[in-house]
Amino acid sequence: MCGIVGCVLKNRKVAPILLESIGKLEYRGYDSVGISTVDQNGIHLKKGSGKIKEVNEKIDLGELPGTTGIAHVRWATHGIPSTENSHPHTDNEGNISVVHNGIIENFSEIRESLEKEGYIFKSQTDTEIIPILIEKNMNKGLNLEDAVNEALKIIKGSYAIGVISKDNPNEIIGARNDSPLIIGVGDGDYFIASDATAIINHTKNVIYVDNGELVILNSEGVVVKDSKGNVVDKNIDVIDWDAEMAQKEGYDYFMLKEIHEQDSAIRDTLSEKDKIAEIISNLDGINRICFVACGTSFHASLTGKYLIESMSGISTDVILASEFRYSANTLDENTLVIFISQSGETADTLKALKLAKKTSKTLAIVNVLGSSATREADFVIYTRAGPEIGVAATKTYISQLVCIYMFAAILADNKELLNTLNEVPDYVSEVLSKEDVVKDIASKYSDVNDFFFIGRGLSYPTALEGALKLKEITYIHGEGYAAGELKHGPLALIDDDVPVVVVLPPGDNYKKTVSNLEEVKARGAHVIAIGSCEDDFIKTEVEDSFCINDKVKEIIAPLIYVVPLQLLSYYISVERGLDPDKPKNLAKCVTVE
Ligand code: G6P
Repeated sequence: MCGIVGCVLKNRKVAPILLESIGKLEYRGYDSVGISTVDQNGIHLKKGSGKIKEVNEKIDLGELPGTTGIAHVRWATHGIPSTENSHPHTDNEGNISVVHNGIIENFSEIRESLEKEGYIFKSQTDTEIIPILIEKNMNKGLNLEDAVNEALKIIKGSYAIGVISKDNPNEIIGARNDSPLIIGVGDGDYFIASDATAIINHTKNVIYVDNGELVILNSEGVVVKDSKGNVVDKNIDVIDWDAEMAQKEGYDYFMLKEIHEQDSAIRDTLSEKDKIAEIISNLDGINRICFVACGTSFHASLTGKYLIESMSGISTDVILASEFRYSANTLDENTLVIFISQSGETADTLKALKLAKKTSKTLAIVNVLGSSATREADFVIYTRAGPEIGVAATKTYISQLVCIYMFAAILADNKELLNTLNEVPDYVSEVLSKEDVVKDIASKYSDVNDFFFIGRGLSYPTALEGALKLKEITYIHGEGYAAGELKHGPLALIDDDVPVVVVLPPGDNYKKTVSNLEEVKARGAHVIAIGSCEDDFIKTEVEDSFCINDKVKEIIAPLIYVVPLQLLSYYISVERGLDPDKPKNLAKCVTVE
């Protein structure tokens, strides 16, 4: 999982622009960074392992000559983070330089045969075969474009690449297969990038590159060709969010900013209502629904199962995308498979989507416009949460939930629920206005080693999501559990060192959840309850609590009760001196299986 950028500029030095642009993609990977430029004197390159800021302080990445260049941020998949394994990678003569996002599956065979021919490899990466294959093809007399094309013919796997060559000092060749790539069309300046966040400061005019297409950027403009070499007439889309939206806007971290954007994100998501109604009107004959997703998107899917089954009676499964291939054989043409993915690029989810398409209708609920899932699925709903930079999903989770709620309500013709959704942004704002309460709870519990999160019914996925947030950004062991299941094992772990967060909205499951709360309290646990502001039991019997407007009933609680849990993890992370935006070992978008 990596990010790439390439720019051909009219009359400005490219390296500082590349440095700024690649910084916007740091959420895609942040263990190494590199920039390569080209001018009449050939290829120039600087790279190293570490976060961009650290590497830049050491080797001044912006100090390279030329107006054409490529850049990369890496999240290691083949070979440890090191200078040798950082991108860009060059050919043996140092005349060609390549950045790559994706995985070349047959790289070891190709590398072996190139080594037999005498080519030398300096890294352990799968990527290095690309510049060397291009070198080999150019040595046979091919021009850069044809040499790249020939190289791609023998490569199997996923890639978005940017290539520069000493022979073409004003040109970048780009290509994609199963990894995202867009083109930015500026005023005499041209870009390629993994996504629009990287280039939005320079242009809002973008072209989405499709699988199998080759892109030629040079001072004359942009040409896109299909795999047969025919020029493709591509649309230019104008992106409707601006640079500030992708910046921190005064918040210490993107995650906090994104938590605070949730009320407005919900309002934007609600605008998809008509689109959802239209999709549902095209779903005749569907008698089964199956959600497929990973991570936070999986938790949103679990909520979908409760809603759809209880309101429409349609049998609904939820399958982890990485497990889908082991259980997909009972799907048929009457099954709707719903893929939930913030990025639309998660490898496990895309793999499952390709499999499901063979038998069933597919719907993707996705945040990133033009991402791979949106191209594969029969139907697409955009969550419209805007760019999310923090690795831990927050506003995109809420937006996914809102889409799922609208889908379930329209499917069941539940107008009351549909109307109630309009009240959710205000309830969320109310929670956000009381964030200091969560901050105090966080400082009290920031030193513990284990947490439990429990809930019943619709509050169970909320408990799972609360625990996932905690693990991701605080490195504290957090376990989400169905409240009624606690007595079948985990109760043995409960004592006064293990705080238990209880998701306790008013409603049918309230009393039974209170019994579970009493069970953990009796074992000495410190209880943190999230419940109604009118709940006298919480006020008098529970050590710590966060209260939510009493009008928020169980049915819509997942949309609001998760917010204090996000804040709890955020403030514990900050209290522990960690960077909540960039948790260790994790990436925003996981493009490996
Ligand atoms: C990664 C991210 C998670 C995310 C999961 C699924 O693990 O760190 O935040 O929930 O991928 O990503 P998707 O883009 O498919 O929702």
